[in-house]
Amino acid sequence: MNKKTLRDISVSGKKVLVRCDFNVPLDKEGNITDDIRITSSMPTINYLLDNGAAVILMSHLGRPKGQALKEYSLDPVAKRLSELLGKNIIFEDCDIVVDDKVKEDALKLKSGDVMLLQNTRFRKEEEKNAGDLAKDLASLGDLFVNDAFGTAHRAHSSNVGICSFLPSAVGFLVEKEIDVMGTALENPKRPLTAILGGAKVSDKIAVIENLLNIADNILIGGGMMYTFLKAEGFNTGSSLLEEDKVQLAKELIEKSKQKNVKLILPVDTVAAKEFKNNTEFFTTTADKIPNDFMGLDIGEKTIEIFTEVIKNSKTIIWNGPLGVFEMDNFAKGTNSIAKSIAQNKDAVSIIGGGDSAAAVEKIGLGDKITHISTGGGASLEFLEGKVLPGIDAVDDK
Ligand code: 3PG
Repeated sequence: MNKKTLRDISVSGKKVLVRCDFNVPLDKEGNITDDIRITSSMPTINYLLDNGAAVILMSHLGRPKGQALKEYSLDPVAKRLSELLGKNIIFEDCDIVVDDKVKEDALKLKSGDVMLLQNTRFRKEEEKNAGDLAKDLASLGDLFVNDAFGTAHRAHSSNVGICSFLPSAVGFLVEKEIDVMGTALENPKRPLTAILGGAKVSDKIAVIENLLNIADNILIGGGMMYTFLKAEGFNTGSSLLEEDKVQLAKELIEKSKQKNVKLILPVDTVAAKEFKNNTEFFTTTADKIPNDFMGLDIGEKTIEIFTEVIKNSKTIIWNGPLGVFEMDNFAKGTNSIAKSIAQNKDAVSIIGGGDSAAAVEKIGLGDKITHISTGGGASLEFLEGKVLPGIDAVDDK
């Protein structure tokens, strides 16, 4: 990586602003239901503290659209951070993120102190990457460290704008994400298999296009498989279908042949009467989905075929569930594929955040995977081969 990392900068005695992605899921009572995005930034935070820095943390949470809304406060994150660090942190509950009091408090910070600012999206300027927010944030410290991989696909004040005002480096989380995923794309151990699921083809077009230049096998599942099955001339019943993407699916199938990439479609599917867990359902071959049934998962035979490919792969990249895994009756495909990936101990396995990461964690296989990305949209854009603005803005080595 050509970007400065924590090891390239001297942090002792400095006030270091660290952009994290603490955009964690909360339940109705405001409790954090999954803190992986917080724990994933602990190596960076602890390194800075151990090396004599004072740390000023910042993040967004949700989409409050420039308003200081209580339900988007970083207060629950402050509490969890305190627990993880085993000490009090200073939480600046400021509606405009940075005001005179925050500036005064920042001036007083000593080595080993930790301050957390309020949700950066409480200010409209954040998402516009315009106005004074970047400058206000930068005025609090001496250096900027970007550890927010999950936000790297956004060009906002607190990750991109701030780089114009302070010397910058990436944190350990960003470094790890880029290293693991970058190597898998640029210099993979082969065969490289990509497993792509999720609801819509339209969300995955750019990923498929990019992976057609890189992967040996592409396995297709999830809601988007029905658009591919339609492209093969099959009746897809009342399954999810993107009519306007059928032609594109045909072209992608054609391209895979030209490029010698095995694009493997499901041969069977679990067809359900209605989109709910308790409904009539059965497994059918992929070409025989009845008109009034919808496919909600891959079938047994497909699981077998996919598992065989996964078993023989040396690099596995998975993005998107293979069925409606939130409903127990249609979770088998996703869970079985997660298990197959976990069982291949010789392969580098990478799960692009979001739903597939949640699925793996749900069945307790997270620790069997080489790398679970903390980025949903960001990891997707990375797999598309795009430059991520949050990383691009950081100082080069
Ligand atoms: C994410 O959860 O993918 C990131 O935190 C970015 O959030 P956003 O999609 O609201 O920009």
